[in-house]
Amino acid sequence: MTVVKTIIAARDAVHRARRSGNKVGLVPTMGAFHAGHLSLVDEARRRCDHVAVTIFVNPTQFVPGEDFEAYPRTLETDLRACEQAGADLVFAPSLEEMYRPNAMTKVSVAGLTKGLCGAARPGHFDGVTTVVAKLFNILPADMAFFGEKDYQQLVVIRRMVTDLDIPIEIVACPTVREPDGLAMSSRNAYLSPPQRAQAVVLSAALFDAGDRIGAGQRDAKELVQRIRDRIESAGPCAIDYVEIVDPETLEPVRSITAPVRICLAVRIGECRLIDNVGADPDASK
Ligand code: PAJ
Repeated sequence: MTVVKTIIAARDAVHRARRSGNKVGLVPTMGAFHAGHLSLVDEARRRCDHVAVTIFVNPTQFVPGEDFEAYPRTLETDLRACEQAGADLVFAPSLEEMYRPNAMTKVSVAGLTKGLCGAARPGHFDGVTTVVAKLFNILPADMAFFGEKDYQQLVVIRRMVTDLDIPIEIVACPTVREPDGLAMSSRNAYLSPPQRAQAVVLSAALFDAGDRIGAGQRDAKELVQRIRDRIESAGPCAIDYVEIVDPETLEPVRSITAPVRICLAVRIGECRLIDNVGADPDASK
């Protein structure tokens, strides 16, 4: 496995791999690996010949007051995990390498970034799309792998790639969960043991709502209320949003007559947790 820190070396490595006839898979991350990240590397390994992972804690996607400074940085452990998972290349640039001081350009996807997490984190998705567009230019892969855990991010990146004609196929990978259902996240480490126990309610409430949709429930408002009640009765928390949306437009739906995505963001203590599941009203037919 080769570890590179410069844009020139990263681009050169990908070009060489592709010239040799390899299909290149890209897995962008901010490090602090858990099994969710590694599942993306595994999927890239399955579908591509050469796997490139990027590790960069991207400051522009953190909104003021968020945890940019505190975000876990575990490069040495992450590199070992990449090696074990069979990555061929890791690009781990410094801040200065990624952002020139006189940069004036950003990539912004309108519409899709207004609701859900975009409402509470203004500017967050511009930071994500700008850095991901840069990574796609630096490492021109055939495919890039993203987790459904960050569902809005996935939809926004798909839109960007379509709108800007970026020749990379976006592959969505399912959310990896702890045995009790909590979606894996680097931020779960911020939870105290009682908060960690409480957090199980998020996935439980989502799965229950998904089951109810499968069983014939069509009223989105009623389901959202049920999810909110269940989360609030589990312990102290602040619900940012619970929404049932169209899986592509991310617009809220009223009556569930086609596949939907149920998405939520909830703060437990200092920790903002997000999760989502897909649900299909015709699943039982
Ligand atoms: P990060 O939070 O490190 O996540 C990297 C990738 O891992 C994302 O595609 C995310 O959706 C995926 N992921 C995280 N937890 C997961 C889980 N439990 N199951 C499956 N996949 C999971 O997302 C980012 O970094 C950044 O915004 C980035 C795209 C790298 C741009 O800076």
